Amino acid sequence: MICLGIESTAHTFGVGVVDEKCRVLANEKDSHSTEAGGLIPRELTDHHVMAAPKVIEKALQSASVKMKDIEVVAFSIGPGIGPALKVGAVAARTLSLKYGKPLLGVNHPIAHIEIGKTVTGCNDPLVVYASGGNTQIIGFDSGKYRVYGETLDTGVGNLLDSFGRELGLGFPAGPKIDAMYFKANKFIELPYSVKGMDLHFSGLLTAAKQNIGKCSEKNLAYSLMHTAFAMVTEVTERALAHTGKKEVLLTGGVACSKALQEMMEKMCYARKAKLFVTPPALAVDNGAMIAWLGLIQFKAGDRMKLEETVVKQKFRADQVVATWI
Ligand code: FE2
Repeated sequence: MICLGIESTAHTFGVGVVDEKCRVLANEKDSHSTEAGGLIPRELTDHHVMAAPKVIEKALQSASVKMKDIEVVAFSIGPGIGPALKVGAVAARTLSLKYGKPLLGVNHPIAHIEIGKTVTGCNDPLVVYASGGNTQIIGFDSGKYRVYGETLDTGVGNLLDSFGRELGLGFPAGPKIDAMYFKANKFIELPYSVKGMDLHFSGLLTAAKQNIGKCSEKNLAYSLMHTAFAMVTEVTERALAHTGKKEVLLTGGVACSKALQEMMEKMCYARKAKLFVTPPALAVDNGAMIAWLGLIQFKAGDRMKLEETVVKQKFRADQVVATWI
């Protein structure tokens, strides 16, 4: 069985092709990026509309398959930026109708989790899904993925990008701040805001911005990143203690951060848990993860009528009954 998956929740328009053994036959993408930073929905839509035919064509070519070989078409149905999601949905519906293929809209965070689990070989992890728009601590329990803790304002990736924009680092700023992290020599105290199991990053961002020009940029960038990741790690540790899970899986674009990996590694070592890190190409937003979740859901018997394929901007992982587990 071969599935084609379309990802378009945010800045990336991605198309992946995977088979039943989770072999990634193609994982093509085109990402919208601006030096000034920020995602303007209208510009994002224009980008995705222009990118869609080319990226679909390229993915089929890379995988050396034709549409007749594809058995299921999957797409990110949510959560995400509405106009961007709609472009992916329209592209997927078009392929489904034109070639007579079944269509499945899948949950984006769960797609991150399932491909991460499969490629790293973990079984029942506590998942740290950290990206631009999302920061959630998720684990499977009694038929559903449960969200144990999450950001109440911005995603940790957006925090880094917003701060990076103030420093003129462009988008995405996360990798540049990650490099600055290891060159710093002084920690600057910034607001640390964990509320129960949830996180707030906006006060931290405001305080960091107010410190620009008053101390070295690299020390400030390090302190911002260290404070934010310590908050995420604290909540992850508490969720580990609560659930008794013995595996932690990092995924999402921020999973590529060496600083976050290092901090999580230390926490996991102290708790006798094992850390798994999703490889970068499959940790960032991509089409292959959508194809993989579409494939395993289809095999489990999930089906969708065309009228059910309406995008859901606020679609949560804990709304999905995991028929495939
Ligand atoms: Fe994502």
